[in-house]
Amino acid sequence: MSRERKPLRPATQLVHGGATRSQFGELSEGLFLTQSFAYPTMEAAEARFKGEDPGFIYSRFSNPTVAMFEKRMTLLEGAEAARATASGMAAVTAALLAQLRAGDHIVSARALFGSCLYVVEDLLPRFGVSSTLVDGADLAQWKAAVREETKLFFLESPTNPGLEVYDIRAIAEIAHGAGARLVVDNVFATPLLQKPFELGADVVVYSATKHIDGQGRCLGGVILASQALIEESIHNFLRQTGPALSPFNAWTMLKALETLPLRVAQQTASATRIADFLAGQKGIARVLYPFRPDHPQAELARRQMSGGGTLVSFDVEGGKEAAFRFANALEVVKISNNLGDAKSLITHPATTTHQRLTPEARARIGVGDGMLRLSVGLEDAEDLITDLEYGLYAASRHG
Ligand SMILES: Cc1ncc(COP(=O)(O)O)c(C=O)c1O
Repeated sequence: MSRERKPLRPATQLVHGGATRSQFGELSEGLFLTQSFAYPTMEAAEARFKGEDPGFIYSRFSNPTVAMFEKRMTLLEGAEAARATASGMAAVTAALLAQLRAGDHIVSARALFGSCLYVVEDLLPRFGVSSTLVDGADLAQWKAAVREETKLFFLESPTNPGLEVYDIRAIAEIAHGAGARLVVDNVFATPLLQKPFELGADVVVYSATKHIDGQGRCLGGVILASQALIEESIHNFLRQTGPALSPFNAWTMLKALETLPLRVAQQTASATRIADFLAGQKGIARVLYPFRPDHPQAELARRQMSGGGTLVSFDVEGGKEAAFRFANALEVVKISNNLGDAKSLITHPATTTHQRLTPEARARIGVGDGMLRLSVGLEDAEDLITDLEYGLYAASRHG
């Protein structure tokens, strides 16, 4: 045996990584549910505020439990630094606002989660940041959108809910050629199935609410980037504006990371089976799953992801009425707009998450009235398929 220990593999890091212990030596990570920290002397307080002593000051800036979660996320993602936030939207908004100022320009894929689209399309322009939306799969559109003042590119891949896959490496090259940074919302891929930093991304954001918690309990988010970027722009923005993750939620997420690989592997295996099952059924016009050979970017998906993910989207023939009959007939699968939960969840994007968009805007990102998005959970896949058979039967009956 060499004396040098080999680096730990991801599953091991997710159980042990980042853990620090108090004087009691607790085995399970400690929950430091405290707002502030007492200093032994005034001199100690002064040193902490000057940054000469790295200790904790106030839980809006940092907290031992939150710091453990952030450290474990950096080990998983292969990032130098991370900051946790109160929700995924807090992570997206902070990651963008902290890097932009009036006069800057952002280029973003059009197929975004509805609230992310609001931030890019409505909110940023109110503060003098112009935005251009492009078809994320068309590299020529990313190139053509670049301007002198372009500072950021933003995308999610696979997209919500169309499960389109974008070429992160090629888009990062275009961004860098233009002197801009690429921010990737990696929620649908999960930190296990796609590594945006290895593909050239500069910032990765998550809604930890989804697979990271994975059991439908707490909201949370995280921003990962280089130490320099976190220190220069992200840390101070979060510290001063306050979208901090609660220590309780950080503790829940930290413990949930221990089982993330098991959950994502099982949910991905079931999603693959369900996609194949649905694809053969009468009444289903189209199935979207990144690792199916009939997916429009199947080759790219297999190149940049190590699994097809836990979501399956599909179009039910007969539009909204048939899609509603399908979802209403399900008993095991619950109707909810959330995703990444241990419980399987189904949503009708056109009337929920993407309701705000005009029918034309929905059509441009492939969200039709018959589309359903299924987030596959941890139930037995056989029970899920039986449940979906009831949905198919109900959809086929005229209402
Ligand atoms: C792709 C994507 N990004 C961001 C978010 C926002 O996350 P949160 O609900 O934790 O704010 C969501 C879901 O809500 C999402 O699906």
